[in-house]
Amino acid sequence: MHPETLLVSASRPAREVDAPVNDPVHFTSTFVGWEPDAAGPRRLYGRMSNPTWDGPEQLLAALEGVEDPAERPALLFSSGMAAISAALHLAPNGGRIVAPQHAYQGGLSLLDSLQQTGRLAVERVDVTDAEAVLRAVRGTGDPASILWLESPTNPMLEVADLAALTEAANAAGALVVVDNTFATPLVQRPLELGADVVVHSVTKYLAGHSDVVLGAAVTDDAGLHRQLHAHRTLHGAIAGPMEAFLALRGMRTLALRLERSQANAAELARRIDAARREGTLPVAAVTYPGLPDHPQHALAAAQMQGGFGSVLTLVMEGGAAAADAVVQNLRHWVPATSLGGVESLVERRRRFDGEPDTVPAGLLRLSVGIEHVDDLWDDLQAGMRAAAVG
Ligand SMILES: Cc1ncc(COP(=O)(O)O)c(C=O)c1O
Repeated sequence: MHPETLLVSASRPAREVDAPVNDPVHFTSTFVGWEPDAAGPRRLYGRMSNPTWDGPEQLLAALEGVEDPAERPALLFSSGMAAISAALHLAPNGGRIVAPQHAYQGGLSLLDSLQQTGRLAVERVDVTDAEAVLRAVRGTGDPASILWLESPTNPMLEVADLAALTEAANAAGALVVVDNTFATPLVQRPLELGADVVVHSVTKYLAGHSDVVLGAAVTDDAGLHRQLHAHRTLHGAIAGPMEAFLALRGMRTLALRLERSQANAAELARRIDAARREGTLPVAAVTYPGLPDHPQHALAAAQMQGGFGSVLTLVMEGGAAAADAVVQNLRHWVPATSLGGVESLVERRRRFDGEPDTVPAGLLRLSVGIEHVDDLWDDLQAGMRAAAVG
């Protein structure tokens, strides 16, 4: 089945007369369990399982290419950070993590704090430099425990060669975890490229409406699945049933939303870049993997199927002050952190502690939504011109 059809038709109640078309939300903290001869795992308690998790978990596993999603469903977590934390827990005490120089800042901050407490050692690399990544993975003694990848990276939109890096890192003895939030499984499927675990901030494109915070980890490896499930149960960062319901409801329209938001992002990148070249807008640089002059455009075209994502960045001439002025002068774009919702969001980066100074201070990250592209374009141009005037 095509992912578009799967998104709509998977995880529905059985087709029976008078059956509902959608599963109800199961608000329960425990399950009737007295059945002495029952075989197999039972639901038991609400921190271990909930029927409302089943739909989104199986659907996400199917989208990421897990062979038997009922056997190895994705694991929902209370947030993307909780899923990241569970995946990092796969590394032993003192293990080495090789992570991108640029990546989701919350994940990088967590790595910093785990390094400070001595739990893990962390080495940051440019994920576009395969040799440097593999040198770091192999190390001088034991190999890294985990190669952590994000592609495209947040917020620099660098593209990593997932298949090549994964194959070499696995051969060196490292697990590979890929944060697939930016691309979604409709655009790239890291497990099919050899990755061991995929994590998501479901908060973003999967749920898609900026109304829920949720995460997920996906793996097709039985041992890793057991460990991640045990971590979730013991550490307790579980999804609420309402959040799980909203995630599944959001995923029903993922294909349509992505089609529009990616088309909008590609068109805006093209228009902004043209204006930059003509000198009609005060923009120093535009980055989008779909632009032909993106340094990894050819790799992105091969690796990302069906689009180049819905995030683009631009660097304003005039640095941080100019970028802030643009944000203040926009009427439609919402100034907010996050991405992946139906509404277009804009955020100046380098505002948070610990962000690498390789991120330009005047960088605006645009999460492009599903509005009409001309309205987004008009507002951007007006905002930039108003900012330039005063
Ligand atoms: C790429 C990426 N991964 C993970 C996260 C963390 O997810 P959450 O906010 O759901 O905890 C984010 C949030 O911005 C993100 O952008």
